[in-house]
Amino acid sequence: MRPRRAERSLPPDMAGMKILFVGGTGNISAECAALLHQRGHEIIVLSRGRSAVPSSYRAIQADRKDGAALRAALKGVKPDVVLNFLGYELAEVQLDYELFNGAVRQYVFISSTVVYTRPPQRLPLTEEAPVGNPFWDYAQKKVACEQWLLGRRAETGFPVTLVRPSHTYSRRWVPNGVSSGSYTFAARLEQGKPVFVHDDGKARGR
Ligand SMILES: NC(=O)c1ccc[n+]([C@@H]2O[C@H](COP(=O)([O-])OP(=O)(O)OC[C@H]3O[C@@H](n4cnc5c(N)ncnc54)[C@H](OP(=O)(O)O)[C@@H]3O)[C@@H](O)[C@H]2O)c1
Repeated sequence: MRPRRAERSLPPDMAGMKILFVGGTGNISAECAALLHQRGHEIIVLSRGRSAVPSSYRAIQADRKDGAALRAALKGVKPDVVLNFLGYELAEVQLDYELFNGAVRQYVFISSTVVYTRPPQRLPLTEEAPVGNPFWDYAQKKVACEQWLLGRRAETGFPVTLVRPSHTYSRRWVPNGVSSGSYTFAARLEQGKPVFVHDDGKARGR
């Protein structure tokens, strides 16, 4: 039987990588960390320690907004890959660049589909869709971070990859515009029951 994608073996130089999660116990990041750990990678989670970090990971505590604390906490930690789930301000990714440029094989910036222009010109949204959401400063800051990082990639070869998650869920949370935090919305959809949608279902901000 053909192995499922998750079970296929990795090329030798990609096995057992040291992967630093900036954030790592959140809605998306916790699931990503669990999968990568299951695949045999070493997981390091940088967080404030408010949510428990699984004991099989290395936990590093620091407030990401405190540059000096972040620098001190990451001293000597030499990750192969950084997954930044906590990039909301330009200054944050600029500090990451300072810390990781020339030091990591890949830096992944978790952005969002909120960056695309609203209302969408065409659905479904693809990576070719134009960027520039004028309705939400969260989106504009994500765009600023993305563009700055892409500039560094062009200029210095900084190995950045952008990921723009869309509608996400985990075992604990299904974000939605109506009953955030609850599975009621999903359960009603599953049962074919009507649900509330604001706007015309193409909410401008999101
Ligand atoms: N959720 C969605 O639907 C969605 C959709 C699109 C894009 N995104 C993007 O995904 C990312 C969020 O990922 P997520 O949903 O996994 O995260 P999340 O649920 O917001 O969790 C935040 C994580 O970061 C830690 N954290 C929060 N503030 C911190 C700080 N100041 N310093 C250090 N650690 C801190 C938290 O642990 P502690 O509390 O213990 O510190 C936790 O591990 C964001 O970049 C967001 O823009 C999310």
